[in-house]
Amino acid sequence: MKAVPIYGHGPVEVLKYVEDFPAPVPNSSESLIKIKYCGLNHLDIWTRIGIPGMPITFPHICGSDIVGSLEGDYDQFPRRTRVLVYPGISCNHCYNCRNGNETICRDFSIIGGLSNYNGGYAEYVVVPKTNIVPIPDEISDEQAATLSISYLTAWNIFNKLQLKKDDTLLVYGATGGLGMAVIQIAKALGIKIITSVSDDSKFNFARSLGSDNVINRKKKEVALEVEKITGGLGVDGVVDNAGQKTFAMSINCVRKGGKIALCGTTSGNIANFQIRTFYSKQIKLFGILIGSKSELLELIEFVSKKKIVPRVDSVYGLTEVQKAHTMLERGQQLGKILIKI
Ligand SMILES: NC(=O)c1ccc[n+]([C@@H]2O[C@H](COP(=O)([O-])OP(=O)(O)OC[C@H]3O[C@@H](n4cnc5c(N)ncnc54)[C@H](OP(=O)(O)O)[C@@H]3O)[C@@H](O)[C@H]2O)c1
Ligand SMILES: [Zn+2]
Repeated sequence: MKAVPIYGHGPVEVLKYVEDFPAPVPNSSESLIKIKYCGLNHLDIWTRIGIPGMPITFPHICGSDIVGSLEGDYDQFPRRTRVLVYPGISCNHCYNCRNGNETICRDFSIIGGLSNYNGGYAEYVVVPKTNIVPIPDEISDEQAATLSISYLTAWNIFNKLQLKKDDTLLVYGATGGLGMAVIQIAKALGIKIITSVSDDSKFNFARSLGSDNVINRKKKEVALEVEKITGGLGVDGVVDNAGQKTFAMSINCVRKGGKIALCGTTSGNIANFQIRTFYSKQIKLFGILIGSKSELLELIEFVSKKKIVPRVDSVYGLTEVQKAHTMLERGQQLGKILIKI
């Protein structure tokens, strides 16, 4: 089959388009999917580059936001059903898995990520039957290919933070996948959004998603702007998807007793912050790793009901995956980048 495996970690050049990659064969507990779209996430960059201490076997196919149609018979859904893939893999039988907390299962890993499960830069993929989720008619294939990483993570964040209508939330990177998802869901929940972008050309996009305040982080001090906007109180919550360069700022921006969802390391992995400020403000910190399958089902219902339409910046073919990764790495996109198979 046509596919874009990597044979080792490295720069975009390690993504190799081939036409003779062995097609996967499902066992009795798996389903074969003919892939239509695979959404790109920053995770794909981490997977391509590699993370020390997280070894995978090669060749590996990246891509975790997989949408396609069911090939072959499957007892639960008819052949050719439009499906997306819940990307989490876990043991399915430990206490956490049995209670819908599979993301804290000791065996948890992500299909197409730093795991030994191939992902969506290919014509076909095989996944456990339990990971198959049918797509409702009102959600297009393109939109579905944005949901199972960025939007699922955002949904999990709102479940954890338990913000109320009219609360204020700060999230960085409005034009990135997770930033956009957080803003659109927040808007639907009546939560006020302050966000940052790195260029004035991204302002209109950020506003059109429903952001109440947009700050150019290259021109203004985000913490000072947040202070002005909130009248010195700070925000009720922060989604910190950038990490090293933002975590200390997130602590400064959140109000006393406020909450931070820490979920990304786009700007680096090591944070330096004031412990005393953190505990004096009695901040609640949540580590977030995508979400559970039951949260994905809740999310799909919410997105359908609230008519949330994720924005797609661009669609590339399988032969253009290197170009798509370069675009994502530069961070110039407005919304999601997809691979169409
Ligand atoms: N924990 C999880 O389960 C989970 C799930 C999804 C994503 N993530 C993580 O969340 C991060 C975002 O993922 P994504 O897929 O949304 O990535 P993305 O689409 O590449 O977006 C990254 C965004 O980060 C912003 N950014 C970069 N450097 C920044 C900085 N120094 N300060 C503030 N903002 C900065 C960029 O916007 P500007 O340049 O315009 O500011 C860009 O929009 C990644 O680190 C990813 O691994 C984690
Ligand atoms: Zn388990």
